[in-house]
Amino acid sequence: MEPTILPAGVGATAIAIAAAREAEGRRPDRLFEDPLAGLFLAAAGRPTIDTVGVLVDYVAVRTAFFDDYLLAAVAGGCRQVVVLASGLDGRAFRLDWPAGMRVFELDLPASLAFKERVLAASGLAPRCDRRVVPADLCADWGAILVAAGFTPGQPTAWLAEGIMSYLSEADREQLMTTMALLSAPGSRFALESAGALLLRSPNPEGDNGLAAFAQEYRGLWHSTLPTEPTAWLERHGWRADVQAPATVWRRHARPEPSLFAAGRAEGQGAWFMTASR
Ligand SMILES: C[S@@+](CC[C@H](N)C(=O)[O-])C[C@H]1O[C@@H](n2cnc3c(N)ncnc32)[C@H](O)[C@@H]1O
Repeated sequence: MEPTILPAGVGATAIAIAAAREAEGRRPDRLFEDPLAGLFLAAAGRPTIDTVGVLVDYVAVRTAFFDDYLLAAVAGGCRQVVVLASGLDGRAFRLDWPAGMRVFELDLPASLAFKERVLAASGLAPRCDRRVVPADLCADWGAILVAAGFTPGQPTAWLAEGIMSYLSEADREQLMTTMALLSAPGSRFALESAGALLLRSPNPEGDNGLAAFAQEYRGLWHSTLPTEPTAWLERHGWRADVQAPATVWRRHARPEPSLFAAGRAEGQGAWFMTASR
């Protein structure tokens, strides 16, 4: 394979997520296996972050939560999925999609160029009609999505995993408006927020590399989602089912990381949610 140009800045955060998914795949009690994650890591030449236990755990449980959401949305009739800021997401290759499924992966051009180069060399084939959409979520991405084959009249399952904190509040609100305009009745949406808990230092989980992680990421974070998101989501037209981390961790038979309890005590709410309209 030709040398790959690694995405820099915020694009590099996707490599950390792939590292966490690769580490999860090596656990005997893994929640999923993402064969693409190891390929991306090998191409990136980065060490894995499996010493940073709570990050691996957070990404793993979050991934499993969104896997369940997408499969439920598909079972409910959505035949198009839009992964916003898809990074190195491997779901188009990993999940058991029904026939006729179209999955859009939207991210910055540099991030997708890296991904496509690794995927082309792997020879792996997606398990759906996968459409790659190079676009900036801070610009007019809706028109680019439609030009890539998105059908606004059809119910859509939207996923915004690990993106909102990297946007300013104004860009996030514009994204929510565009998404609402493109969402036919029956559409769904999933999102999660850890507030700024993962950047907490010192962290109740012990350091384990978290302080270094916080230092690297703090400069990239531009906003925090509302602690109580239901009214905010309702303003954007979504009926939300908000779940506490304890509920989500229990469902996946893992102990809830103590940083959530510490956050609750400080009024910093972390939450997971699925929504419909
Ligand atoms: C933490 S990664 C999450 C990737 C993916 N959702 C996942 O969970 O594997 C953040 C991603 O957001 C993308 N991103 C950041 N700002 C963006 C923007 N303005 N437009 C599109 N993508 C953006 C980055 O390129 C990166 O791939």
